[in-house]
Amino acid sequence: MRTKMVAGNWKMNMTLQEGVALATELKDKITNPSCQVVIGTPFIHLATISQLLKGTPIQLAAENCADKEKGAFTGEVSAAMVASTGAQYCILGHSERRAYYNETTDILREKVLLALANGLKPIFCIGEIKEEREANIQNEVVKTQLEESLFNLSEQEFRNITLAYEPVWAIGTGLTATPQQAQEMHAYIRSVIAKKYGQETADDTTILYGGSCNEKNAAELFANPDVDGGLIGGASLVADKFLAIIAAR
Ligand code: PGA
Repeated sequence: MRTKMVAGNWKMNMTLQEGVALATELKDKITNPSCQVVIGTPFIHLATISQLLKGTPIQLAAENCADKEKGAFTGEVSAAMVASTGAQYCILGHSERRAYYNETTDILREKVLLALANGLKPIFCIGEIKEEREANIQNEVVKTQLEESLFNLSEQEFRNITLAYEPVWAIGTGLTATPQQAQEMHAYIRSVIAKKYGQETADDTTILYGGSCNEKNAAELFANPDVDGGLIGGASLVADKFLAIIAAR
Protein backbone atom coordinates (compact mmCIF):
# COMPACT_ATOMS: atom_id res chain seq x y z
CA MET A 1 0.00 0.00 0.00
CA ARG A 2 1.41 3.38 -0.97
CA THR A 3 1.71 6.19 1.55
CA LYS A 4 -1.17 8.65 1.74
CA MET A 5 0.13 12.12 2.43
CA VAL A 6 -0.84 15.72 3.01
CA ALA A 7 2.12 18.09 2.69
CA GLY A 8 2.16 21.83 3.30
CA ASN A 9 4.23 24.22 1.25
CA TRP A 10 4.62 27.49 3.13
CA LYS A 11 6.52 29.11 0.23
CA MET A 12 8.06 32.49 1.23
CA ASN A 13 5.71 33.10 4.14
CA MET A 14 6.13 33.19 7.92
CA THR A 15 8.86 34.79 10.00
CA LEU A 16 10.69 32.38 12.26
CA GLN A 17 8.40 33.31 15.16
CA GLU A 18 5.22 32.93 13.11
CA GLY A 19 6.44 29.61 11.73
CA VAL A 20 7.25 28.25 15.17
CA ALA A 21 3.79 29.29 16.38
CA LEU A 22 2.07 27.52 13.47
CA ALA A 23 4.20 24.38 13.80
CA THR A 24 3.50 24.30 17.55
CA GLU A 25 -0.25 24.50 16.94
CA LEU A 26 -0.05 21.73 14.34
CA LYS A 27 2.06 19.56 16.63
CA ASP A 28 -0.44 19.96 19.46
CA LYS A 29 -3.46 19.19 17.28
CA ILE A 30 -2.09 16.43 15.04
CA THR A 31 -1.59 13.47 17.32
CA ASN A 32 -2.85 10.48 15.37
CA PRO A 33 -3.26 11.48 11.71
CA SER A 34 -4.76 9.06 9.19
CA CYS A 35 -2.02 9.92 6.69
CA GLN A 36 1.59 11.07 6.61
CA VAL A 37 1.70 14.78 7.39
CA VAL A 38 4.63 16.84 6.11
CA ILE A 39 5.24 20.56 6.43
CA GLY A 40 7.48 22.30 3.92
CA THR A 41 9.09 25.44 5.32
CA PRO A 42 11.67 28.02 4.31
CA PHE A 43 15.27 27.03 5.11
CA ILE A 44 15.52 29.33 8.10
CA HIS A 45 12.75 27.45 9.95
CA LEU A 46 14.11 23.96 9.47
CA ALA A 47 16.53 23.57 12.39
CA THR A 48 14.13 24.99 14.96
CA ILE A 49 10.99 23.27 13.73
CA SER A 50 12.78 19.96 13.34
CA GLN A 51 13.53 20.02 17.09
CA LEU A 52 9.94 20.97 17.81
CA LEU A 53 8.56 18.07 15.75
CA LYS A 54 10.78 15.40 17.33
CA GLY A 55 8.69 12.49 18.56
CA THR A 56 5.60 13.66 16.64
CA PRO A 57 4.09 12.04 13.53
CA ILE A 58 4.77 15.20 11.49
CA GLN A 59 7.73 15.22 9.12
CA LEU A 60 9.57 18.20 7.72
CA ALA A 61 10.51 19.29 4.19
CA ALA A 62 12.70 21.98 2.72
CA GLU A 63 11.26 23.78 -0.31
CA ASN A 64 14.45 23.59 -2.37
CA CYS A 65 18.13 22.68 -2.24
CA ALA A 66 21.18 23.63 -4.26
CA ASP A 67 22.24 21.84 -7.43
CA LYS A 68 25.85 21.80 -6.21
CA GLU A 69 27.37 19.73 -3.45
CA LYS A 70 29.24 22.44 -1.52
CA GLY A 71 31.65 25.33 -1.84
CA ALA A 72 31.71 28.84 -3.25
CA PHE A 73 28.01 29.28 -4.08
CA THR A 74 27.07 32.29 -1.99
CA GLY A 75 23.54 32.20 -0.68
CA GLU A 76 22.83 28.60 -1.63
CA VAL A 77 21.80 25.83 0.79
CA SER A 78 23.00 22.31 0.06
CA ALA A 79 21.10 19.05 0.44
CA ALA A 80 23.62 18.03 3.13
CA MET A 81 22.79 21.20 5.07
CA VAL A 82 19.06 20.51 4.79
CA ALA A 83 19.56 16.93 5.96
CA SER A 84 21.67 18.13 8.90
CA THR A 85 18.66 20.02 10.28
CA GLY A 86 16.73 16.77 10.64
CA ALA A 87 14.36 17.44 7.72
CA GLN A 88 13.34 14.26 5.93
CA TYR A 89 11.95 15.61 2.64
CA CYS A 90 12.82 18.20 0.02
CA ILE A 91 10.28 19.74 -2.35
CA LEU A 92 11.94 20.03 -5.78
CA GLY A 93 10.80 21.21 -9.19
CA HIS A 94 8.04 23.49 -7.97
CA SER A 95 6.65 25.50 -10.88
CA GLU A 96 7.58 28.76 -9.14
CA ARG A 97 11.23 27.64 -9.06
CA ARG A 98 11.03 26.56 -12.70
CA ALA A 99 9.38 29.81 -13.82
CA TYR A 100 11.03 32.49 -11.65
CA TYR A 101 14.46 30.94 -10.99
CA ASN A 102 15.00 29.25 -14.33
CA GLU A 103 15.28 25.76 -12.92
CA THR A 104 15.59 23.49 -15.93
CA THR A 105 14.99 19.75 -16.05
CA ASP A 106 18.81 19.32 -16.10
CA ILE A 107 19.28 21.40 -12.95
CA LEU A 108 16.45 19.50 -11.27
CA ARG A 109 18.04 16.16 -12.14
CA GLU A 110 21.16 17.27 -10.22
CA LYS A 111 19.10 18.45 -7.26
CA VAL A 112 17.24 15.14 -7.07
CA LEU A 113 20.52 13.20 -7.09
CA LEU A 114 22.00 15.36 -4.34
CA ALA A 115 18.84 15.14 -2.23
CA LEU A 116 18.84 11.34 -2.51
CA ALA A 117 22.59 11.10 -1.85
CA ASN A 118 21.98 12.95 1.40
CA GLY A 119 19.09 10.76 2.50
CA LEU A 120 16.34 13.27 1.68
CA LYS A 121 13.14 12.12 0.02
CA PRO A 122 12.22 14.44 -2.86
CA ILE A 123 8.64 15.63 -3.29
CA PHE A 124 8.98 16.28 -6.99
CA CYS A 125 6.51 18.65 -8.66
CA ILE A 126 5.37 18.36 -12.25
CA GLY A 127 2.59 20.02 -14.19
CA GLU A 128 1.59 21.90 -17.30
CA ILE A 129 0.90 25.60 -17.81
CA LYS A 130 -2.46 26.93 -19.00
CA GLU A 131 -1.48 27.18 -22.67
CA GLU A 132 -0.28 23.57 -22.65
CA ARG A 133 -3.58 22.39 -21.16
CA GLU A 134 -5.48 24.42 -23.76
CA ALA A 135 -3.39 22.80 -26.50
CA ASN A 136 -4.15 19.41 -24.91
CA ILE A 137 -0.47 18.51 -24.59
CA GLN A 138 -0.45 18.18 -20.79
CA ASN A 139 0.38 14.48 -20.91
CA GLU A 140 3.46 15.00 -23.10
CA VAL A 141 4.63 17.91 -20.92
CA VAL A 142 4.41 15.91 -17.72
CA LYS A 143 5.99 12.83 -19.30
CA THR A 144 8.97 14.90 -20.47
CA GLN A 145 9.39 16.40 -16.99
CA LEU A 146 9.52 12.88 -15.53
CA GLU A 147 11.87 11.54 -18.19
CA GLU A 148 14.33 14.42 -18.07
CA SER A 149 14.65 14.81 -14.31
CA LEU A 150 13.83 11.42 -12.79
CA PHE A 151 14.08 8.53 -15.23
CA ASN A 152 17.87 8.39 -14.91
CA LEU A 153 17.24 6.97 -11.41
CA SER A 154 17.43 3.28 -10.63
CA GLU A 155 14.18 1.65 -9.56
CA GLN A 156 15.45 1.58 -5.97
CA GLU A 157 16.25 5.30 -6.07
CA PHE A 158 12.94 6.12 -7.70
CA ARG A 159 11.08 4.44 -4.86
CA ASN A 160 12.15 7.35 -2.61
CA ILE A 161 10.32 9.87 -4.81
CA THR A 162 6.92 11.33 -3.98
CA LEU A 163 5.34 13.07 -6.97
CA ALA A 164 3.11 16.12 -6.86
CA TYR A 165 1.00 16.86 -9.93
CA GLU A 166 0.42 20.59 -9.83
CA PRO A 167 -1.22 22.10 -12.90
CA VAL A 168 0.39 25.54 -12.98
CA TRP A 169 -2.89 27.21 -13.92
CA ALA A 170 -4.38 25.99 -10.64
CA ILE A 171 -1.63 27.16 -8.28
CA GLY A 172 -2.72 30.06 -6.11
CA THR A 173 -5.42 30.97 -8.62
CA GLY A 174 -8.47 29.49 -6.97
CA LEU A 175 -8.94 27.38 -10.12
CA THR A 176 -8.75 23.75 -9.07
CA ALA A 177 -8.44 20.86 -11.47
CA THR A 178 -11.70 18.96 -11.43
CA PRO A 179 -11.54 15.64 -9.60
CA GLN A 180 -11.83 14.01 -13.03
CA GLN A 181 -8.93 16.01 -14.50
CA ALA A 182 -6.80 15.13 -11.47
CA GLN A 183 -7.67 11.44 -11.62
CA GLU A 184 -7.02 11.26 -15.37
CA MET A 185 -3.60 12.83 -15.03
CA HIS A 186 -2.62 10.83 -11.96
CA ALA A 187 -3.59 7.59 -13.69
CA TYR A 188 -1.58 8.66 -16.73
CA ILE A 189 1.48 9.48 -14.58
CA ARG A 190 1.20 6.08 -12.92
CA SER A 191 1.07 4.39 -16.33
CA VAL A 192 4.24 6.20 -17.41
CA ILE A 193 5.99 5.06 -14.22
CA ALA A 194 4.74 1.49 -14.78
CA LYS A 195 6.25 1.45 -18.27
CA LYS A 196 9.61 2.58 -16.94
CA TYR A 197 9.85 0.85 -13.55
CA GLY A 198 7.12 -1.79 -13.56
CA GLN A 199 3.61 -1.96 -12.13
CA GLU A 200 4.63 -2.66 -8.55
CA THR A 201 6.76 0.47 -8.25
CA ALA A 202 4.07 2.49 -10.03
CA ASP A 203 1.47 1.21 -7.58
CA ASP A 204 3.72 2.08 -4.65
CA THR A 205 4.40 5.66 -5.82
CA THR A 206 2.59 8.37 -3.90
CA ILE A 207 1.17 11.00 -6.25
CA LEU A 208 -0.14 14.17 -4.61
CA TYR A 209 -2.39 16.77 -6.21
CA GLY A 210 -1.57 20.45 -5.74
CA GLY A 211 -3.16 23.65 -6.95
CA SER A 212 -5.81 25.49 -4.93
CA CYS A 213 -6.55 22.37 -2.93
CA ASN A 214 -8.42 23.51 0.15
CA GLU A 215 -10.63 22.35 2.99
CA LYS A 216 -13.69 22.51 0.73
CA ASN A 217 -12.50 20.50 -2.28
CA ALA A 218 -9.95 18.15 -0.68
CA ALA A 219 -12.31 15.27 0.06
CA GLU A 220 -13.62 15.19 -3.50
CA LEU A 221 -10.08 15.24 -4.94
CA PHE A 222 -8.78 12.60 -2.51
CA ALA A 223 -11.69 10.28 -3.27
CA ASN A 224 -10.04 9.41 -6.59
CA PRO A 225 -8.13 6.12 -6.61
CA ASP A 226 -4.91 7.60 -7.99
CA VAL A 227 -4.90 10.81 -5.93
CA ASP A 228 -2.92 9.89 -2.83
CA GLY A 229 -3.07 13.23 -1.08
CA GLY A 230 -2.23 16.87 -1.56
CA LEU A 231 0.54 19.44 -1.68
CA ILE A 232 -1.05 22.47 -0.10
CA GLY A 233 0.12 26.06 -0.48
CA GLY A 234 -2.15 28.84 0.75
CA ALA A 235 -4.39 26.65 2.89
CA SER A 236 -1.38 25.21 4.75
CA LEU A 237 -0.74 28.61 6.35
CA VAL A 238 -3.93 28.45 8.42
CA ALA A 239 -3.91 25.64 10.99
CA ASP A 240 -7.63 24.92 10.90
CA LYS A 241 -7.73 24.72 7.09
CA PHE A 242 -4.68 22.45 6.97
CA LEU A 243 -6.15 20.24 9.70
CA ALA A 244 -9.42 19.95 7.79
CA ILE A 245 -7.53 18.87 4.66
CA ILE A 246 -5.64 16.24 6.66
CA ALA A 247 -8.93 15.00 8.07
CA ALA A 248 -10.27 14.69 4.51
CA ARG A 249 -7.45 12.29 3.57
P1 PGA B 1 -1.80 26.60 -3.62
O1 PGA B 1 -0.28 26.16 -3.90
O2 PGA B 1 -2.38 25.53 -2.76
O3 PGA B 1 -1.68 27.92 -2.91
O4 PGA B 1 -2.47 26.71 -4.95
C1 PGA B 1 0.05 24.83 -4.11
C2 PGA B 1 1.52 24.72 -4.38
O5 PGA B 1 2.06 25.61 -5.07
O6 PGA B 1 2.19 23.76 -3.93
